[in-house]
Amino acid sequence: RENPSSLILLFGATGDLAKRKLYPSLYNLFRKGNLSNRFAVVGVARRLKDDGEFRNWVRDSITTFGEKADNLEEFISHFYYQSHDVNDSESYKQLKELVDRLDHTYQLEGNRIFYLAMSPEFFGTVAEHLREDGLTNTNGFKRLVIEKPFGHDLASAIELNKRIRSAFKEDEVYRIDHYLGKEMVQNIEVIRFANAIFEPLWNNRYISNIQVTSSETLGVEERARYYDKSGAIRDMVQNHMLQIVSLLAMEPPIRLTTDEIRSEKVKVLRALRPVEGEAVHDYFVRGQYGEGIMNGSKVPAYRDEPNVPKDSNTETFVAGKFLIDNFRWAGVPFYIRTGKRMATKSTNIIVQFKDIPMNLYYKNGSTLNPNLLVIHVQPDEGITLHLNVKKTGEVLGTTPVKLNFSTKSIDGINTPEAYEKLLYDCLRGDATNFTHWDEVALSWRFVDNISEVWTNEQADFPNYAAGSMGPKAAEELLEKDGFFWWPVN
Ligand code: BG6
Repeated sequence: RENPSSLILLFGATGDLAKRKLYPSLYNLFRKGNLSNRFAVVGVARRLKDDGEFRNWVRDSITTFGEKADNLEEFISHFYYQSHDVNDSESYKQLKELVDRLDHTYQLEGNRIFYLAMSPEFFGTVAEHLREDGLTNTNGFKRLVIEKPFGHDLASAIELNKRIRSAFKEDEVYRIDHYLGKEMVQNIEVIRFANAIFEPLWNNRYISNIQVTSSETLGVEERARYYDKSGAIRDMVQNHMLQIVSLLAMEPPIRLTTDEIRSEKVKVLRALRPVEGEAVHDYFVRGQYGEGIMNGSKVPAYRDEPNVPKDSNTETFVAGKFLIDNFRWAGVPFYIRTGKRMATKSTNIIVQFKDIPMNLYYKNGSTLNPNLLVIHVQPDEGITLHLNVKKTGEVLGTTPVKLNFSTKSIDGINTPEAYEKLLYDCLRGDATNFTHWDEVALSWRFVDNISEVWTNEQADFPNYAAGSMGPKAAEELLEKDGFFWWPVN
């Protein structure tokens, strides 16, 4: 089937995300023949002058962050620029003229993707103007792609959703969670539902706990203005971490359709045991990095980063325990941890199976390690299964071994960037790997309870050194349940 034609209207065309991810990803789609020739991109921003300057910008982005090929100039010829004031109807009217003209030139059949890769404070305004000034009035499809954060808490998310929904129907809204575009996050479903050896064990009879770690080595970089109001719980847990947990915990969907999968994920979020008031201290741990040594050089504490208040109470690390109160998961903790300025950049999932009923090999002094299934999300992509085997030459000795699968070793290529896949999904109208409103709302409801407690109590920060794996309390969170964080590698 031919790839659908479309106009992509990109708000925030000179932003960091567009430059690092969106242009290189679009170009990859083009190179691979996954983008119809009938496409045009209108970049909307304020800082550039004209098409020429914009095309230079796009070329620069692709040569810096992407892979260049022969047809780059042809690709770039599809790019147009419009200087724009998000609050001014006149601006949208000019935009509409340009869009209508391109629609005709490239035979786009009225198909339109509006991509908001800009400051979230404008999301609502832009959506409303798009409708009021006639841009959403089209014969083809219209889709809104919206970057995070989707609100700051449940109340603001509801407000934003109302404004967006005045212009777009729920199934026209593509809320990005770029973790859902990661190859191994998409693989969770396949590992679970395509393997007879896992799914029968995937429950509280055989799994003792699940650990999801997403650690970063970078600090807050240039984003303190946003980050200091957000913190790790809103920045990472409300979206990426809870999405991973719902994929790990959901029931098998009846079919692999968008609606069926989403409905199973929503059920997990509904079954999350709410953590409120005093209980927050038992289930969640927060941290903020102090100075430390990373790669041999000293890095500053969070509070000494540019634009961070000296007394900031914002967490740059969260560890937490989710309990899912349903038949499958009753009693199985799902632990998550995520933070900035940690020892490694890595995301992985560790499923720890329960111990076998008795250890026949104990007599010899050897203990048995539990079986682990490790799903490596990044930087490596693959799975590792930890088993016990006989120690060569010994009668009763056992030794742990690892069965390894790395996607690189099979496909021999780098897997496509998350954004490339998500853009392609959106062009084809597949919303499976985007977040439904119900998921957003339930996640905020859960997270708001924790934020509320944390906002009202001054934390004893900083409490972990840059370059470490987080505060001691994160270790204790598992120790009190008789577990520990498995080493990441
Ligand atoms: C983003 C957060 O959603 O995810 C960032 O806003 C974070 O703070 C990033 O650094 C992590 O993404 P990745 O793909 O590098 O793990």
